Amino acid sequence: MGRVAIYGGTFDPPHRGHVAVVRELSSRDDIDKILVLPTWKSPLKEMPQANIHHRLVMAGLALDGIPGVEVNDHEAYPCLDTANFSVYTADTLKHLSMIYRNLVLVLGSDIQKSFLNWKNVEQILKLADIMIIRRPGEKTCSLAFDFESMEIEGVQISSGEIRGNLISSAEMKSVVPPNVLEYIKVNGLYFSMNDNAAAQLEKSLEFVRNRLKGHRLNHSLAVAVEAERIAIVYGLNPFQARLGGLLHDSARDMESIELDAILREPHGQIASASFSGEVRAVLHGPCAAVLVRRELEIEDSQILEAITYHATGCPGMSPVAAAVYLADFAEPSRKFPQARQILEELRSGSQSLGALLLKTARFKAAFLARSSESSEQLGAAFLDHLEMGGWREYDMMPSCLWRKQ
Ligand SMILES: [Fe+2]
Ligand SMILES: [Fe+2]
Repeated sequence: MGRVAIYGGTFDPPHRGHVAVVRELSSRDDIDKILVLPTWKSPLKEMPQANIHHRLVMAGLALDGIPGVEVNDHEAYPCLDTANFSVYTADTLKHLSMIYRNLVLVLGSDIQKSFLNWKNVEQILKLADIMIIRRPGEKTCSLAFDFESMEIEGVQISSGEIRGNLISSAEMKSVVPPNVLEYIKVNGLYFSMNDNAAAQLEKSLEFVRNRLKGHRLNHSLAVAVEAERIAIVYGLNPFQARLGGLLHDSARDMESIELDAILREPHGQIASASFSGEVRAVLHGPCAAVLVRRELEIEDSQILEAITYHATGCPGMSPVAAAVYLADFAEPSRKFPQARQILEELRSGSQSLGALLLKTARFKAAFLARSSESSEQLGAAFLDHLEMGGWREYDMMPSCLWRKQ
C-alpha cells in the first residue's frame, strides 16, 4: 500500500516551487495521495500576509489538475485557545493518523535545522516518516533521525522573495502560476493592494485597537476575518466585509453619556431612527457607524449599514451586511452551541447565505425571548422579513474552490 504525503506551509502565495514538489510527489509510485495543508500560522513564523481563505483558494488554483492532490483545511482554522493561534504539526499528524496510514511528512531543506525545536518532535517522528526536499546539488545535514530526501529542480524561490517583489517584478510571471497571479491581481493581495484600501485598513485597525481591549478586541478581529471569509466564499466584496467586521463593535465600550451625545447628533438620529428607544444594548451599532464616519471618514454605505445593523439585521440590508451579521454571531470564539452550528454550516459550504441568515435570526430571537423580557422585539422586523420569504434575496451559494478530492 502506498503512502500519504503531508505537505504543509503558509503558501503565501503558492509558487512554482510548491507546484514542482507536489508534481514530483504525485509522480512517485510509493505515494498514493498528497495532502496539501495551508496553515493559519506557523508557530515559528510571523502571521502570513494574505488571509487564510485567499491562501486556500490560491493553493487550489496552483495545484489544479495534479493527480492525487487534496488541498485540506485542517490547519486553516485553529482552535482559538491555542497559544498565538498557531497550529502544531504533531497535532495535525495525530489527527490525520486516525484517518490515514503510512504518513510521510514533507519538509523543505530550510527547516531541517529548526525541526528538532518543533513542539513534540518525538511524537512527529513516531507518527510519520520524514522526507526532506533538496535543491539541486544541495546537501542535507546529518540529523539525529532517519529521513529520506527528494531532489527538486526549480525551487530556488521563496514566498517571501515573491512578496517583496510583487508590485512590479516581471519575474512574477515566471514564479507564480498564471491563475494564481490573476487571483492576486483581482483581489488586490500583497503590495498590489490599492493604496487607499491598505491605508484605510491600517488606520481602522489602529482605531479599533485604541478603543477595544481583551476579548472585545479579539472578537472584532475574529469577526473581520470571518466576515471576509464569508464574502470570499459567497462572491461579495471582501474589503467591505473585513472593514465592517473590524469596526462593528467600535462603540461597544463607550460610556452611556458618550453614546447619548452621539445619538443626539443629526447623523446619530438618522442612524438610530429604526431602533426603538429602550433597546440600548444594540445602539452601539448605529453609534459605531456615526463614529467611523466622523473619525475615519468612511462613507461607504454598505460598510456603514453592516456596522449599524450587525446585531439586529434590517429588512433589505445588503449581502455584505449579512456577512458581518453572520460573522458576529458565529466567529470561532463564540462558545454557545447555536454559534458552533452556524460556523460549522458556513464551513461546510453547503447552504445559501439566505438559509444561514434565517437560521441565525431564529436562533437570536429564541435566545432573546428566553433571556430578556424587554428585548423581545430586537431584530423582530428582520426575522419577519426573512420568514416572509425575504431570505431568498440572499440566494447566493458558496464556491468552495479549495475543496478538491
Ligand atoms: Fe455588537
Ligand atoms: Fe460583535
